[in-house]
Amino acid sequence: MRKTAASEVLDRVLVLEMVRVTEAAAISASRLIGRGDEKAADAAAVEAMREAFDELYMDGTVVIGEGERDEAPMLFIGEKVGGAPGKGPKIDIALDPLEGTTITAKAGPNALAVLAAAEEGCLLNAPDVYMDKLAVGPGYPQGVIDLSKGPTENVKSVAKAKGVKPNEIIVCVLDRPRHANLISELRSIGCGIQLIPDGDVAGVIAVTDEDTTIDLYMGSGGAPEGVLAAAALRCVGGQFQGRLLFRNDDERGRARKWGIDDLDRIYTLDDLAKGDCIFAATGVTDGSLLDGVKRLRNGVMTTESVVMRASSGTVRWIKGEHRTNIKD
Ligand code: FBP
Repeated sequence: MRKTAASEVLDRVLVLEMVRVTEAAAISASRLIGRGDEKAADAAAVEAMREAFDELYMDGTVVIGEGERDEAPMLFIGEKVGGAPGKGPKIDIALDPLEGTTITAKAGPNALAVLAAAEEGCLLNAPDVYMDKLAVGPGYPQGVIDLSKGPTENVKSVAKAKGVKPNEIIVCVLDRPRHANLISELRSIGCGIQLIPDGDVAGVIAVTDEDTTIDLYMGSGGAPEGVLAAAALRCVGGQFQGRLLFRNDDERGRARKWGIDDLDRIYTLDDLAKGDCIFAATGVTDGSLLDGVKRLRNGVMTTESVVMRASSGTVRWIKGEHRTNIKD
């Protein structure tokens, strides 16, 4: 079958090579697990990811990164990455070298090194504001979730489609005071709630894995993390809706700066990550999606990663054993 231009672009970047990048970030951050220093853990992941990108033959641009140019020394929005600027395929990258800085500092579950890559212009340039998120796994009729409706209606809709009662539905929610009303509404209809301390990329992806028993993801978290999670769901299926939330005029201004005019828009999966895209992640600490980095004897380290591609729906789970040739 004739390949589309988009898949040719991503082919040339070598989809599997993206895992080297998340592996490098995860290995580097893993030295700081449980050390109580979020900033150091993040900095270690950022530096290693930045270096690993330069090994790839691509002309990459960070569209979601560590912040704006004046806020982040490396992997800032607009920064060029890759070893072939001006020559290699033009790829947009959304990244979070350490998704779960606090988790890592406290040695909690579900910290990841994560990125999404797509042809130029295919990932939403999401400002660093909150996003209200609603996600359900694959196998449900399109439209079973709707962010313009309330939590109860969405739970009832998914319960009906699943053939169970609303009180049999399990919802994953970030444990935050701002979610007090959401949590009490869900409890009033008898839902089970899995409260997570941090890490909503893994939280959203958990709805796609029946083993987690999580049916729905609800609540607000980072908008950049929303784009990363959407890229993963584009690859494995499921439905996601997100709406940006603004706390002040500065945040509204940031959105307008990135070309977002309709501030109340509800984004679907294709609005957040369209065309062919790749999602790659390596576990930093053990979690529902991936095992974390293990530092064994004699300088051997093990990693677990996943890399997925939207155009083929292929999901590859990669276990790595790393010895002296890994920069750390
Ligand atoms: P960091 O790795 O940047 O600390 O993000 C962790 C995280 O839990 C994200 O997964 C989530 O989207 C966001 O923080 C939620 O933000 P807040 O902690 O302000 O509720």
